[in-house]
Amino acid sequence: MFTSITCLFLGSVIIGSLMPIGKMSDMKMLSVIFKRNNFLRGDKSQPKFNGKNNEDHYVEYVYSIPLGLTVGEGLVNAIGAAFEKPVKVLSEGGRIFIRIYFEKLPEIIPYSNVPIRKSAKWLMPIGYGLDGWLWHDLDRDAVHMNVSGATRQGKTVFLKNLITYLCEHKTDYVKFHLIDMKGGLEFGRYENLRQVEGVASNIEEAEQMLERIRLDIDKKMKFFKRRGFNNIVNTPIRTRHVIIIDEAAELTPDKHTLPKLKESMQNCQDTMSHIARVAGALGYRLVFCTQYATADTLPRQVKQNSDAKIAFKLPTGTASRVAIDEDGAQYLPNAGRAIYKTHERETVQVPLLDDKEMMERLQPFMKEVSELDAPKDYSVPETDGSNIIEFGKA
Ligand SMILES: Nc1ncnc2c1ncn2[C@@H]1O[C@H](COP(=O)(O)OP(=O)(O)OP(=O)(O)O)[C@@H](O)[C@H]1O
Ligand SMILES: [Mg+2]
Repeated sequence: MFTSITCLFLGSVIIGSLMPIGKMSDMKMLSVIFKRNNFLRGDKSQPKFNGKNNEDHYVEYVYSIPLGLTVGEGLVNAIGAAFEKPVKVLSEGGRIFIRIYFEKLPEIIPYSNVPIRKSAKWLMPIGYGLDGWLWHDLDRDAVHMNVSGATRQGKTVFLKNLITYLCEHKTDYVKFHLIDMKGGLEFGRYENLRQVEGVASNIEEAEQMLERIRLDIDKKMKFFKRRGFNNIVNTPIRTRHVIIIDEAAELTPDKHTLPKLKESMQNCQDTMSHIARVAGALGYRLVFCTQYATADTLPRQVKQNSDAKIAFKLPTGTASRVAIDEDGAQYLPNAGRAIYKTHERETVQVPLLDDKEMMERLQPFMKEVSELDAPKDYSVPETDGSNIIEFGKA
């Protein structure tokens, strides 16, 4: 399997200014960088050049290196800084592939550029990366997701992409529970979507909603046991429940929190942990969004069970390590630029979807007036088979 490290020319390494790079060939430059970074750890020889591949959006230099040697972020950043181009280094079995890309990532990618992919999979676009569009499969890649990033860096826009894309492409199968701890300012507008089971905008509502979900999970668990199902992805059930919590840190008590609220917050934390631990197999997907994921704001079970992490720019390397278990998010250059981390790591520009376009796209999914008058029933009935669709259909 390949491992890869990317440098998007973040300008944090000075090697470019230390040497006269003007007329040097790419290979000479690489050779100087290997030497200056002591890549072979005191060995005076150089990595052995194996060949060059010219692709339409990058040129790739292939070297063999002593088995067991790994490429560090420092070397990749040094190459990126010297070439002033985005660089990706992939390694596999004693060889490294140094890709020098011709174009930087754009600062804005409109949502309308997202390619249409007709697929039975639970795909959503994460963003546009150096090698094209990056997709996340909510069934296969990781069922739960943590999104972090400093203020105004693109977390809510990412959530808008997620909601809009799934409404457009999984219209009959996606069900949302939305918890908006900014007082409903953002998510209130989704309340009348057919796909939305409920919007909670304060701690009390969040507690009630999470409790209803917990009861539903218990029912589904029994149903799965009766039917001998172990994981929804191996059943014909097409529905997925996506629970999105924006500004989730607001559900964390601190020393000033009143006792009554503290108890409600603790209940919310317990239920979120429960969902993260057991509900993935039953079709629940948790998207947990916070400015700064600390051990306090991110329940341990949520962190451990979220195999996909998305970080927008964060204030420090420490914050980046908490969010994605490694450095890098502190260097992201602009709003909407994010690191997507599963077992691999990729930097992307998340599509920009403004409110006007989003509401136009969502209009077909809004409830009719007659549906709005109907009394609200948030409880999700026990699965009676009505949302079970035969394999191969639709
Ligand atoms: N993908 C994107 N591409 C380009 N610009 C973006 C993108 N995402 C966000 N922005 C810009 O950043 C602004 C803030 O985005 P957003 O509301 O998503 O931030 P946030 O991280 O949710 O902030 P807060 O923590 O304050 O809620 C947007 O209004 C837009 O101007
Ligand atoms: Mg926000």
